[in-house]
Amino acid sequence: MQKFKALLVEEVAGKQFQASVTERDLAELPEGDVLIRVQYSSLNYKDALSASGNKAVTRSYPHTPGIDAAGKVVMSTSPDFAEGDEVIVTGYDLGMNTSGGFGQLIRVPGNWVINCPEAMSLKQAMILGTAGFTAALCVEKLLVNGLTPASGSVLVTGATGGVGSVAVALLHKLGFTVVASTGKRSSHPFLEQLGAALIIDRNSLAEVNSRPLLKPQWAGAIDVVGGDTLFNVIKSINYGGSVACCGLVQSPALQGTVLPFILRGVNLLGVDSVELSAQTKADIWNKLAREWKLENLDTIYKEIDFSELEANLGKVLKGEAVGRYLLNLN
Ligand SMILES: NC(=O)c1ccc[n+]([C@@H]2O[C@H](COP(=O)([O-])OP(=O)(O)OC[C@H]3O[C@@H](n4cnc5c(N)ncnc54)[C@H](OP(=O)(O)O)[C@@H]3O)[C@@H](O)[C@H]2O)c1
Repeated sequence: MQKFKALLVEEVAGKQFQASVTERDLAELPEGDVLIRVQYSSLNYKDALSASGNKAVTRSYPHTPGIDAAGKVVMSTSPDFAEGDEVIVTGYDLGMNTSGGFGQLIRVPGNWVINCPEAMSLKQAMILGTAGFTAALCVEKLLVNGLTPASGSVLVTGATGGVGSVAVALLHKLGFTVVASTGKRSSHPFLEQLGAALIIDRNSLAEVNSRPLLKPQWAGAIDVVGGDTLFNVIKSINYGGSVACCGLVQSPALQGTVLPFILRGVNLLGVDSVELSAQTKADIWNKLAREWKLENLDTIYKEIDFSELEANLGKVLKGEAVGRYLLNLN
């Protein structure tokens, strides 16, 4: 297949960006060891930034976003992969400056590619996508740092979003009492059905507060919001508890004091899903396919095609997304 369909974002006059679904040619893809026919991708916050012309994510246009891709190998010069293998590519430079999963073909280095676990379909992998994978990384870090269901409740911010919704479902599956913070009143039933025991209004976490410590409330937290919300969360963690920090939808800034760390022994755990080794990625995907398999995955996503891509990327950018958005490229 020389020609393939893809979303192409172009820079037009006056720093304006325009996206359209167009036919591209195989020759336009970068060099790489593995050519993959993408069957599914998914929508992530970073894709919404790339598709809207954010140059901190994508330096130059025209460009095809999509940090997630799952599909079958068409051609490989890597000894690790053969035609027909079902594979997953997430992170590294995919969809940032390398043509991404919003195209029916990608060509990438072999060390970006991992085998899709046998116990997981390509579709299931992309319902989770980078957001779900990141939620699992956050949970893993909290567990490694000693969090158990007996420690107390765990807060998830941005709970209706991609990372947040999978985090709520996964923590619930693992026996934790989950407190979900959201700005979407209409999505309370969605969060309850994922397993949230308590739902709080995100405004209660967003206020700038000069007190160096707040009432301890949670044994752990997963934060996708950053900014003042993150600092209020850190100030409200129980003695010895941990916060997994992975996002910045409110702000990348972090202001405050060291007091929660030196008086309460709070751990701030950084989480990156992009540059991990392929082996570490494979280990987490295998967990998600087996002991961490989410039985309610079907209730967490909406399937879309190319024609609905732009509108839904707009929703993600405005913080209006609920759950995961699966892009079917078949
Ligand atoms: N570190 C990594 O490797 C990694 C990987 C994946 C994602 N991320 C980051 O994690 C964040 C979330 O990603 P996502 O894919 O889950 O995005 P998403 O689906 O758009 O979800 C973000 C959620 O945050 C809440 N929110 C939005 N704007 C907000 C604001 N101004 N203040 C407070 N809450 C707000 C909303 O949930 P409610 O309405 O429920 O509050 C929204 O649904 C992004 O910053 C993304 O870049 C990082």
